[in-house]
Amino acid sequence: MHYPALSVPQIGGGSLIAIVAIVHVFIAHFAVGAGILNAVAETLARRRGDALLLRFVRDSSKVLILIPFVLGAVTGVGIWFTIAVVAPRATSMLIHNFVWGWATEWVFFFVEIAAGYVYYYSWDKLSPRRHLIVGWIYAGAAWMSLVVINGIITFMLTTGRWQSLRAEGRWDAAFWYAILNPTYWPSLVLRTVSALAIAGIAACVLVHFLKSYTRDDRIGIIRLASYFMLPLLLMPPVAVWYFFQVPRFPRDLPFGGSIAMTMFFLFGGVCSALIFLYALGVIRRHEHVSLGSALMLLSMAFVATGSMEYVREGIRKPYVIRGYLWSSGIADQPAELARLNGEGILTHSPWIAPADRLARADLRTRGEWVFKAECIQCHTVDGVNGVTPLVYGWNREMLDINIRYLHRLKGFMPPFIGTDAERDALAEYLFSLSPTHHEDPPIAIPVAAVQPGGRP
Ligand code: HEC
Repeated sequence: MHYPALSVPQIGGGSLIAIVAIVHVFIAHFAVGAGILNAVAETLARRRGDALLLRFVRDSSKVLILIPFVLGAVTGVGIWFTIAVVAPRATSMLIHNFVWGWATEWVFFFVEIAAGYVYYYSWDKLSPRRHLIVGWIYAGAAWMSLVVINGIITFMLTTGRWQSLRAEGRWDAAFWYAILNPTYWPSLVLRTVSALAIAGIAACVLVHFLKSYTRDDRIGIIRLASYFMLPLLLMPPVAVWYFFQVPRFPRDLPFGGSIAMTMFFLFGGVCSALIFLYALGVIRRHEHVSLGSALMLLSMAFVATGSMEYVREGIRKPYVIRGYLWSSGIADQPAELARLNGEGILTHSPWIAPADRLARADLRTRGEWVFKAECIQCHTVDGVNGVTPLVYGWNREMLDINIRYLHRLKGFMPPFIGTDAERDALAEYLFSLSPTHHEDPPIAIPVAAVQPGGRP
């Protein structure tokens, strides 16, 4: 059965996932980085007997520890809700394939949350040494949750030897190859670096909201926080390492292959470079960072994070799980393709095309159903990536041939899957969307004309 996917009007399901995911990723990275920043700061404060720094760690632990993990958890649940309704089959597949991965992840979440509460509420109850240990447990558990989830996220783009090992029935090996897939390590470094930078910037913002700190007090704290932005220097070489592991087609997209991907990749790169340079200046000149500047840096970090997430998700098209599951929710597996091409996509999509109405529906309605079954995962009708302007002015012949070769028309689209009659219906539906459709009378296209070696 072809899973039902929620049709989100105007913005589309992909954009909905992107919005929720980007907010979550930003907060989650902040939580991971903040845990480390907090633990490092408390360690330094205790070692040096630095009362000011210790006061800062204590005053800020609500914003650096408590709030991020609560918001991270809430938006994380938000992601599960959105992906489950927009990409149900991929969600199910990821749950089943990584059961023990998720279980491990949730153990780390639990440790993180428990340690976070103990840390926050035990300033006066635990000895300094024990309190510091709890702070490091929090930081370690938060980072470990990134370590696990990074495997599942990177797997979706670079599945490594997972499929062949699965085919051989070597389930354990398949699991580990999936988690420690080719982009696992560079991505882990990139994410850790951005987590540290976001936390550093957030500390620069936060210091302005704490009462009774002098300007010099703030300069000292801002200087320490700025050091957390310096690892951004690692980003360019590690990004090169990352892209070396990515197959040719997705790799070409952010380097000119798709202008949208290229632009977002540039935004991400430029914002990260500017943040690094700014931090370097602050450290070298012992500068103060005003609230306005700190908020500007935070916004840039958000743009950088959002852009890079967008590129990572975007270059995975036409797959959700590369080489295995198309974005349309159909598995790129010979048996499934043969079945759907033979029996049709609509007979397997009863929630879109109820069996009793299917036989009676006209061509255009069936076409609309086909569109809902295998195009709405990436297109809306006339909103984000709306198909109406894309087919503007196309005649039936163009539609017919382009749907036949959809995957070659744009490499980031899966092929059309379904019967010939469904393909005709889809062409008819798309044709009806074009404002010029009345100018083009229906024509029957001989099949031979669109076969290789045929007329066009
Ligand atoms: C994996 C996501 C995805 C799926 C699924 C998908 N498309 Fe697309 N499609 C895209 C993207 C991205 C573009 C590029 C839009 C642009 O260039 O602005 C596109 C472009 C197009 C275009 C314009 C091509 C051109 O040369 O300008 C048409 C027509 C189209 N899609 C039809 C469809 C139809 C019909 C389906 C369902 C059978 C479908 N798409 C499924 C992502 C997808």
